[in-house]
Amino acid sequence: MNKQKKIDSRDIGLEIGLILGQYFFNTEHLHYGYWAGDLDINLKNLPQAQKNYCHFIISQIPEGIKTILDVGCGVGRSAFELINKGYRVDCVSPSPVLTERARMLLGEQSHIFECDFENIQTENRYDMILFSESFQYIKLEKALQNSVKLLNKDGYLLICDFFKTDAKGKSVLGGGHKLAKFYEFISQYPLIPIKDMDITKETAPNLDIINGFLSNVGFPIWKTLIHFLDTNYHFISRLIHWKYNRKIKKINRKYFSGARNARNFSIYKSYRLLLYKNVSA
Ligand SMILES: C[S@@+](CC[C@H](N)C(=O)[O-])C[C@H]1O[C@@H](n2cnc3c(N)ncnc32)[C@H](O)[C@@H]1O
Repeated sequence: MNKQKKIDSRDIGLEIGLILGQYFFNTEHLHYGYWAGDLDINLKNLPQAQKNYCHFIISQIPEGIKTILDVGCGVGRSAFELINKGYRVDCVSPSPVLTERARMLLGEQSHIFECDFENIQTENRYDMILFSESFQYIKLEKALQNSVKLLNKDGYLLICDFFKTDAKGKSVLGGGHKLAKFYEFISQYPLIPIKDMDITKETAPNLDIINGFLSNVGFPIWKTLIHFLDTNYHFISRLIHWKYNRKIKKINRKYFSGARNARNFSIYKSYRLLLYKNVSA
């Protein structure tokens, strides 16, 4: 019998993020947003912060770029903006749900490689490769190897994403390559650093917004469900607690302890915009 391929929990996280984002916040972007200037930090301003993030990235694209490969394009919002600015954009998207949405938005204007970036097969070459909050999902060595392979000579690699700092202690916040390891790895490739901007302060507020949502919406729903099971299905409830006790504790610690906040993000993560130029012959 054919075994069904397991779904990656990170894919599910992104798809849930998309559903909640669309319904509650009227946004399809799947990134933290850029909180700068006089933009108040509250849920209502999340769509604006996410538009600002997209515009911020676009403002950092060097002159002369014509073709872009948007790796991990989500539902294609950034690619859509880039196409509207006159760039020719192809995308990489391994998630069938997000790919379908991106296809609907981008139509024939963009070719979408429906695979992990690690496994992309193409003769195409691009002036710029963009990783907008997608770099952390891709194995470091393969991400850099394939970027160099797919870039035109003098092309650019633009990464906007968060990395792990060297801060001691355990964080409930997952994700991100180690920044020190990233610098060590990339120094071995024919990619020279052009820009390295620390935008942790401008992106961290997203964590306080999500934390507020989890405390005020997620946790009460979670508590109600557990209470319902405890009172109405006592035996099943005890079985679930016995079997999944560690998982339940982990969920409580990760999502409902209040530790997913901007302060901890600023300690354990460093959000950076990095621009490198390909100097391989
Ligand atoms: C946080 S979302 C960012 C989406 C979009 N770039 C944005 O800024 O809104 C991460 C994206 O990375 C993609 N992704 C995850 N693993 C990947 C991989 N191995 N190769 C390419 N993309 C990947 C996901 O499908 C998703 O589209």
